[in-house]
Amino acid sequence: MAQEDVFKKLVAHCKEYGYVFPSSEIYDGLAAVYDYGQYGVELKNNIKKYWWDSMVLLHENVVGIDSAIFMHPTIWKASGHVDAFNDPLIDNKDSKKRYRADVLIEDHIAKYEEKIEKEVAKAKKRFGEKFDETLFRQTNPQILQHQQKKEELRSRMAKALNDNDLNELRQIIIDNKIVCPISGTCNWTEVRQFNLMFSTEIGSTADGASKIYLRPETAQGIFVNFLNVQKTGRMKIPFGIAQIGKAFRNEIVARQFIFRMREFEQMEMQFFVRPGSELEWFKKWKETRMSWHQTLGFGAENYRFHDHEKLAHYANAATDIEFRFPFGFKEVEGIHSRTDFDLKRHQEFSGKKIQYFDPELNESYTPYVIETSIGVDRMFLQVIAAAYQEEEIEKEDGTKDARVVLKLPAALAPVKLAVMPLVKKDGLPEKAEEIMQALRLDFRCQYDEKDSIGKRYRRQDAIGTPFCITVDHQTLEDNAVTIRYRDTMQQERVAIDQLYGILKQKTDMRELLKQIKL
Ligand code: GAP
Repeated sequence: MAQEDVFKKLVAHCKEYGYVFPSSEIYDGLAAVYDYGQYGVELKNNIKKYWWDSMVLLHENVVGIDSAIFMHPTIWKASGHVDAFNDPLIDNKDSKKRYRADVLIEDHIAKYEEKIEKEVAKAKKRFGEKFDETLFRQTNPQILQHQQKKEELRSRMAKALNDNDLNELRQIIIDNKIVCPISGTCNWTEVRQFNLMFSTEIGSTADGASKIYLRPETAQGIFVNFLNVQKTGRMKIPFGIAQIGKAFRNEIVARQFIFRMREFEQMEMQFFVRPGSELEWFKKWKETRMSWHQTLGFGAENYRFHDHEKLAHYANAATDIEFRFPFGFKEVEGIHSRTDFDLKRHQEFSGKKIQYFDPELNESYTPYVIETSIGVDRMFLQVIAAAYQEEEIEKEDGTKDARVVLKLPAALAPVKLAVMPLVKKDGLPEKAEEIMQALRLDFRCQYDEKDSIGKRYRRQDAIGTPFCITVDHQTLEDNAVTIRYRDTMQQERVAIDQLYGILKQKTDMRELLKQIKL
């Protein structure tokens, strides 16, 4: 099945099974804004817990805060967002559709990558076991040609973005005959800069209301609280401050479901270090964050680093962790070495001294910062895209059946356990209820007695419940149940008093946390 079709099905699945709904749907929706349903909110909370615990439980020197969304407007002047938080946009005159110029070019670059992968796949099929992929990639003339074009285009775009050369960006689009996906034409307007911050007013107009922004990142709430946390927490450098919270951006190109939203959530951590040690810490956090991702078990080959060619105005090193989504490798998380830019700017704009006295060096300085920044929603999409699978299975009578299953890591799954009486009589529902009561405070359980057992399994597969417990007549005699494992569909008979231990071990987030390489 084409990857676009898989993605469409995934979006439909999220809606049908209570994961994600379009916002304000009964009023025809609101572009790039989404609501999380009954299972979505649980998965989201579990992702946030996995991140939060990996920061503040695993690192003694990382603490959390929760700063306000509204902040003093000068903060956004100091951070550079008022003047420079822009996207270059371009309109197609025929379709009247608006695009980000850099995204159009990036999509074109991705086409070269697709061509390369197709060549490799073709050759693999042709040569079978003898195929030497590395050698093929290094020597095949077509691959080398695609590679060269890709690199040329990438560096030309990076230069145009670095120089803020909007005419050149447009010229790249024209020269590469990049067409509008809707009209198919190359009839483009000029490229213009568009600020992504939403603004509103605070205070009543009569009192003289002032313009205020909805924060476009949570990071600034951390920077302006640097001294508060450092002093009250008696924190010693190196130390970090973590925060999870909403952010808002008036994205021009809002597509790919919850990948790019106008209201979203971020999990950010700013790690304050001695000047000069920042690149070492940058390397360390790159590794730790990659390990956090890969511990979820979706396959190391589906992740990669993408080092930035165009560094943000505040960074001296930057990389993205990318995941292989159904629409290609895309950024899930950004890791930036932000220098002392933000603290220095807040010192300058607030007139307050923001420095750290280092008792070991016996001197004061402005700390340097390593930032790890990941979108909760984008991580949610990554998890659900990796977990979504359509499988053909064989029924007991030998006929084929299909199932859609969300192979979510058990620690993240919204519902851990479904308890099902085989029939709705003979005391089985009561026994099932008793098991539920014993387990419900530790594991999110669901009781289901409707339809055949096969249909009930399918329903639980579709929402990603890792374990189903069936209570049958035998249970009343031997106090044992059948546990059915979602991924293998294997069944096992276990004593009821062993259930807690099995479930605890298999769903405990601590088991994931222990595997992260720090
Ligand atoms: N403080 C740095 C910062 O905000 P960013 O690369 O702009 O950096 C960090 O954003 C992460 O936030 C991204 O890697 C992505 O996961 C998420 N993110 C950014 N914009 C988003 C949007 N419009 N919708 C959903 N997630 C977004």
